Parts: sequence; C-alpha cells; structure tokens
Amino acid sequence: MARLLVVDDDPDMCAELSRLFSRRGHQVVTSQAADLAFDLLKEAEDDFDLVVTDLNMRGMNGIELCDRVVQNWRDLPVIIVTAFGSMETAVATMRAGAFDFLTKPFHTEALMVSVERALRHRALTEEVKRLRRESARTSTFGMIGESAPMQRVFELVERVAETDVTVLVTGESGAGKELVARAIHGHGRRAQGPMVAINCAAMPENLLESELFGHAKGAFTDARTARKGLFVEAEGGTLFLDEVGEMPLAMQAKLLRALETRHVRPVGAATEVAFDARLVTATNRDLETRIAEKTFREDLYYRINVVHVEVPPLRSRGNDVLLLAQAFLERFAARHGKKVASYSKAVAEKLLAYAWPGNVRELSNTIERAVALARFEELQVEDLAPRVRDYRSSHVLVAADDPSELVTMEEVEARYIRRVLESVGGSKSDAARVLGFDRSTLYRKLERYRIVVDV
Ligand SMILES: Nc1ncnc2c1ncn2[C@@H]1O[C@H](COP(=O)(O)OP(=O)(O)OP(=O)(O)O)[C@@H](O)[C@H]1O
Ligand SMILES: [Mg+2]
Repeated sequence: MARLLVVDDDPDMCAELSRLFSRRGHQVVTSQAADLAFDLLKEAEDDFDLVVTDLNMRGMNGIELCDRVVQNWRDLPVIIVTAFGSMETAVATMRAGAFDFLTKPFHTEALMVSVERALRHRALTEEVKRLRRESARTSTFGMIGESAPMQRVFELVERVAETDVTVLVTGESGAGKELVARAIHGHGRRAQGPMVAINCAAMPENLLESELFGHAKGAFTDARTARKGLFVEAEGGTLFLDEVGEMPLAMQAKLLRALETRHVRPVGAATEVAFDARLVTATNRDLETRIAEKTFREDLYYRINVVHVEVPPLRSRGNDVLLLAQAFLERFAARHGKKVASYSKAVAEKLLAYAWPGNVRELSNTIERAVALARFEELQVEDLAPRVRDYRSSHVLVAADDPSELVTMEEVEARYIRRVLESVGGSKSDAARVLGFDRSTLYRKLERYRIVVDV
C-alpha cells in the first residue's frame, strides 16, 4: 500500500482518481490547488510515495509543482495528467523531471500501469537508500558512526591504512581506540599479515621486555627455550601497543631504540634481529602531560605520533548514540533471545542527554542490561540503568548547590563555549552559530579563555 497525493482543481476528477487508487488498496489524499499540495508535502515530510497532478490549474500549475517537488524531494515521482497534450507540454513536463505524462481522457489501465511503475521505482530507490544507510552504519570498518567527527576519523583511517606510518590512537576509555587500530590494520596492505596486540599496562617491566623483544634460551630461570617476541611475530603485519602511556620509562628507551634501528635485541641474546612490523599505539592518557611530568619520553612521543588519530568522545557524536543503541539492541536481543526491536522516544532522549563517561562500551553495557530487563518490544525508560535514567546534565554550568562552587560569569561563559564546541564536534563555525557570535568574537574568546580546539 502506498500513499498518493492527487492534485486537480476539478473536484470530480479528484474524486474519480481517489476512487480508482483506493480500490487498488492505496491511501489517497487530494488537493485542489498546487500550492496547498506543496504545503501538504512539506508537512508530511517523506510520507508520500507519488504525486499525480493535473497540468492546467489556477495559481501554480502542474509543471511548476513538479519542478518544486523534484527540487525538494528528488526521489518522489510525479505523474502529470492533462487534457491539453501537445509535444511542447510533453517536453516541458519531462524537463521538469516528471516521471510520466498522460493525456485525458486516459485509459484507466494506462494510468494504473504508469502509477505502478512509478511506485516500483519509488520502492526501489527507498530500498537503495536504506541499504546505503545500513552499509554506512556497518561497513565503515565495522564501526558505526555518521557524525562529522566520526566521518573525519574514518577518512583519516582510510588514508593512513594504506601506508606504513606509525599511528598513535588516543581517546577516552571505551571510545573505540582498539577498533580503530584494528581498522588500520585490516584495511591496509598488511591486512593479510598478523595483528599482534599487547597491553603495556598489564605487565611488569621485565616481562614486557621479553614479550616484545623475545628472549634467548636460558636468559632467565624459566627460559627453557628461546622465544621470538611480538615484534618478530608481527612480521608482515601490525604490532598494536595498547596503553602505551603506561609503559615504564626504561622500557620506553628500549622501544625507542628498536623503532629507530628497526631491530630488536632479545633478552639475553648476543645479536639483534630485524623486524618488519607496522606499529600502532593507543592510550587514553594525555601524553603531553605525562611528558611534562617526565613519565613519558618526549623523543618516543614524536616517534610514535607520526599520525595522530583522536577518537572523539561519544557525547560529541550527536545522533550516533542512537544508531549505536539500535545496533546494540538488535545484537543483544538476538543473543539473549528477547523480542526487543526498538526503544521509546523517551529512551532516546535519555540516551542523548547522558554524558557517557565510559563511551561506547558503557552504551553497549547499558543497552545489554536494558534488553535483558525489557518486558516489552520497545525499551522503556524504566529499563535503563539509574545513572542514565536519572541523569541531570552534570556539566552544569553553575553548580548552585554548594556556594563554594559558584563561579564567575566569565567562567560560566568559558564552560559554556567548551560545552557547545564539544557538542558540535569542534567546528568553530557551527559553534559560533549556536552561540550567536560572529567568528571573530568566538576566536577572541577562545584565545582569552585559552580554549584549544583540535579537530
Ligand atoms: N563506532 C563503534 N561502532 C560499534 N562498536 C563500537 C564502536 N566504537 C566502539 N565500539 C565497541 O565498544 C567497545 C569499546 O571499544 P574499544 O575496546 O575499541 O575501546 P577503547 O577505546 O580501546 O577502550 P579502552 O580505553 O577501555 O581500552 C568494544 O566492544 C567495541 O567493539
Ligand atoms: Mg582499548
């Protein structure tokens, strides 16, 4: 069943067409003036599937209407019907982008054939659009995200994947750093090779060294056999050093040396071994702060930070939260055998308002819990964890509860500018628009409050 809009200034004609289409099971709305029809279309957003319009009407005629429809809704087909068929009008209707042109009196069958053809065409373009949306959701390296900041990440990943440069991936916990690292490996020319990952935070220093560089037989008590080490194991592929910010200083020096010489020396071995692995590192620490604190080597920082991919926090990705929520909902409904298919509008509002300090991982856990608890096919606010359900925007600009936390007007302004920048993904022109500043005013304030925007 499709929704048709019939436009004709002759009420009898409207009624006849309406009867005809209704009998075929379609839903029909009629309008006796083109400008009213256009308003109906605007209100309905994407709700109509086809417009059938008369050509000659008082006010806006059928060709003008068609022209405007095509300009606003490229994929909405228009069929023009007229009692005055001439070659010129036929050409004019086609030029306006009409799907078809019929002359009155028409054979009912001819009209129906044209209508069915237009509807099939419409259904197909909708399907293509849906598939494209779907693949935009899932196929960008298996990462979901349509927001501008995520699109920038995907572009960078794509460009960098083909090369061998060393990449540093940063971002808050749970933001998707490991997924980005895997995407860089999986879409480059080393994709056929191994991806070897190690978490630098999880290991004491001497163990980390022999894990990374290998060891000779008898190098230490337990070393009954020689071991290759991950640098060599990642031959032809990628070595992923997770939480590189936690690496002990002495180990940092050895890593730097290995990267500079492209050789490693296994623990207890007399000779060095060459390696051919691409290095990707990740951290949720601010390495520049660690450098200032002298817990991270500056020279190593420059070595690993040839290209920097910053994964934005979930709260700055706008509607991506909802796309991710839907994907997780489908995943967990299938996994737990629950018949949950969607979430209520109130849930969407809560998801959008919450700040997600644990980013995508937290969202995934939240949805899994909600799906497990759900009693209806639509997730309800009650299914959400209390911290999400009861969240009051805690980037409160003025913390009024405690008088000691009251701040100056300037501080409020600075915080608010930061908040806006965050929510528009760092775009200064968008932020200026939201704030009602012109760009130069915004720049002045950024400077004054020392707000750094890295995009
Ligand atoms: N854009 C995304 N689309 C789909 N799933 C995602 C996306 N980003 C992250 N995830 C999922 O969220 C979880 C956390 O991602 P990941 O482990 O890559 O984060 P991380 O930044 O490495 O976290 P941590 O700082 O804790 O190491 C994973 O289950 C991952 O599959
Ligand atoms: Mg990680």
